[in-house]
Amino acid sequence: MKKLLLLAALCCLAFGATATASEHRSGEDVYETYCHTCHATGVAGAPKFGDHEAWKPLIAKGVDQLVEVAKSGKGAMPPMGTCSDCSMDELEAAVKYMVENSQ
Ligand code: HEC
Repeated sequence: MKKLLLLAALCCLAFGATATASEHRSGEDVYETYCHTCHATGVAGAPKFGDHEAWKPLIAKGVDQLVEVAKSGKGAMPPMGTCSDCSMDELEAAVKYMVENSQ
């Protein structure tokens, strides 16, 4: 009987984990919610979304590097680009979304 209870608990734990994963926000969601504020118009010198020239030298550094900078913050950009509850995957998705639309 104990074993059965344990199995039931494990089952629900696994289910819980899946539910959390499905709440994973897309790069577009994160961008629109958090990064858009500054990057849509270039507030405080932020590289503007879609501005090919501004992003060219950044893209050359590689996405991994950009994600690291976004994580720790730079100049007027706070750490995590203000998305303090973003996972690294979500932050990376947001950076990729900006890169893909600005190259
Ligand atoms: C409060 C305004 C603000 C918000 C919100 C913001 N940024 Fe930024 N971001 C900036 C500014 C300003 C810079 C330019 C920093 C500099 O070069 O001094 C920048 C630069 C960057 C860069 C280039 C980094 C580099 O290597 O120069 C990336 C990538 C980036 N932001 C990603 C993001 C992402 C992803 C988000 C949302 C999760 C975000 N930003 C939200 C202001 C913001």
